Amino acid sequence: MKIAVCGKGGVGKSTVSAYLIQALLNRGRQVLAIDADPSPHLARLLGFDDSDITPIAEMKDLLNERSGRDGPFYNLNPRVDDLPERFMKRKGNLSLMVLGAIKQGGAGCACADNAVLRNLLNRLLLSENEDIVLDMEAGVEHLGRGTISGVDHILIVVQPYRGSIETAEKIDRLAKDLKIRSLHIVANNCQDEEDVKFIEKMCGRRPIGVFYFSSKARRAEREGMPITGASSEMLASAEKIISSLEKAT
Ligand SMILES: Nc1ncnc2c1ncn2[C@@H]1O[C@H](COP(=O)(O)OP(=O)(O)OP(=O)(O)O)[C@@H](O)[C@H]1O
Ligand SMILES: [Mg+2]
Repeated sequence: MKIAVCGKGGVGKSTVSAYLIQALLNRGRQVLAIDADPSPHLARLLGFDDSDITPIAEMKDLLNERSGRDGPFYNLNPRVDDLPERFMKRKGNLSLMVLGAIKQGGAGCACADNAVLRNLLNRLLLSENEDIVLDMEAGVEHLGRGTISGVDHILIVVQPYRGSIETAEKIDRLAKDLKIRSLHIVANNCQDEEDVKFIEKMCGRRPIGVFYFSSKARRAEREGMPITGASSEMLASAEKIISSLEKAT
């Protein structure tokens, strides 16, 4: 299955993505993790050495070559089929791809570079057999680009405060426009049942999963350690979500 993890900035998208990835790996699945956040740090959370990872968006020569932007027109459908193999990092059953951020401004328009990334993402979402977890850019802007229309499930991470839930509502509306039917709320950083109730009331539905505040996860992140081994409670929450999504598929 292909899962996109969305939500307001800082709500815990990368943290939740990392635990979902670990939950899938624990089931013996092949997982492709895609970091689509402009300031990527999923690699570190998953225990990859991020010092030797260059996001694809920063590979200017590659983007220029593929988009054909050196000519008078750029290619709307650039070739990307060989890129996943070249730019994936692997560790056991886990592969990681870091898309990164296209820099706006400077010489020329970013549309050509975006066409390469969009094609790459679409190719992965439409053709790979393995499970995919996409750690998305914060907010709602990316939904307008339609790049995640190939996913099976969208998980919207919220925390027990209004701002994150308002963003979730916007994501929900835009995702429905993309005809993605499996849309779920994930509650993160809850302190108690009252927090979960608040989220349930504000969102008008029960979250598909709840992650409580974990000092172990926070410490691991602060120390730059992989977080997936830090909290067995968070892993158990992720496993429950995967089971529910499997039933829904
Ligand atoms: N359940 C939790 N318990 C404790 N700390 C958490 C929890 N969830 C997230 N955090 C911490 O909150 C911070 C933000 O989390 P994270 O980076 O996953 O958010 P994000 O939504 O991916 O942020 P961004 O929008 O910047 O990409 C991190 O320091 C993370 O360790
Ligand atoms: Mg993140």
